[in-house]
Amino acid sequence: MKRNNKKRIGVLTGGGDAPGLNAVIRAVVKTALIKYQWEVVGIKDGYDGLIKPNRTKLMNLEDVQGILPRGGTILGTTNRSNPFEYKTVENGKVIIKDISDKAIKRIKELSIDVLIVIGGDGSLKIANKFLKKGIPIVGIPKTIDNDLQATDLTFGFTTAVQTATEAIDKLHTTAESHHRVMVLEVMGRYAGWIALQSGIAGGADVILIPEIAFDFKKILKKIEDRRRHNRFFSIIVVAEGAIPKGGTVEVIKPASKGEFERLGGIGQKVGLEIEEELDVETRVTVLGHLQRGGSPCPFDRILGSRYGTAALELVAEKKFGWMPCLKGLFIESCPIEKAVGSFKLVNPEGQLVKTAETLGIEFGR
Ligand code: F6P
Repeated sequence: MKRNNKKRIGVLTGGGDAPGLNAVIRAVVKTALIKYQWEVVGIKDGYDGLIKPNRTKLMNLEDVQGILPRGGTILGTTNRSNPFEYKTVENGKVIIKDISDKAIKRIKELSIDVLIVIGGDGSLKIANKFLKKGIPIVGIPKTIDNDLQATDLTFGFTTAVQTATEAIDKLHTTAESHHRVMVLEVMGRYAGWIALQSGIAGGADVILIPEIAFDFKKILKKIEDRRRHNRFFSIIVVAEGAIPKGGTVEVIKPASKGEFERLGGIGQKVGLEIEEELDVETRVTVLGHLQRGGSPCPFDRILGSRYGTAALELVAEKKFGWMPCLKGLFIESCPIEKAVGSFKLVNPEGQLVKTAETLGIEFGR
């Protein structure tokens, strides 16, 4: 409960984590407390913090000291819980319920005037639903996949690209030492941004992305061509959501109530196929959550800090339902509604793909 007339901001992080989350939280707290003399309630564990007890904290400057280089989130855990489709177990049965009114009641009990939601497509869609139920919301775009519409870049993406590029660099030396094909599977459910950018930065020979259905024969031909030119190793970067022509996405665990399907396996599939068809040893590395963990790179610390401060300016301007976004070199703002619902995909005819192809990178099309 509030004991003064200060504006009170709530802040939560939803969905998968992304390097730079703490930079955003720090910027939100510092801007609110120092520039505006407002209060900030940190809501732990994503939207769960509005459902379950004892998950909120009135934040002070000490709470955000020293967190800029830290990965993860200081706001408990971040998860994909959704108050509009909340998973509970009743009499041993999993039930999905809309308990959003309970979350709204909690927001009111906490005297939160504006809620800041740091999230990707899923969390921002939920934010939009709260907005329609009358809760003043400002969003902040987050996902390592960089697949959110309306912003050129999300924070966390550049760190993920750096991690993937370092992995490719390391795979290069061992690939060359053994004359092997190395396949690196990276994240990217719907969009191949991480695969594309790390593949170009790391000098990959083949890049496979969800936006370009690939033909195995083209990959085999690329490896053989290289061998003919005395390049006895090859590097293939494949996004987890990449799909062979006429095939389907590789799923480890199908979608179940309240959870989306878990992707993975396309790297192994590509690796095995190469070994079956060509007389060349192939090894597969799945980079997985290494891409989400660890310290954010300087760019993501800066972008996160810019988003955090810009979100507070949107609060000051009462631009509820909006979020800061990056357009070129500048932070602008856009309605959350425009950022969600459809993904920002790699344009198969765009500059980056063309650049890669000019450099001889094979996409399998
Ligand atoms: O944040 C998006 C993402 O990185 C996807 O690329 C990936 O499929 C997913 O998260 C995996 O997340 P989790 O293992 O946390 O469910």
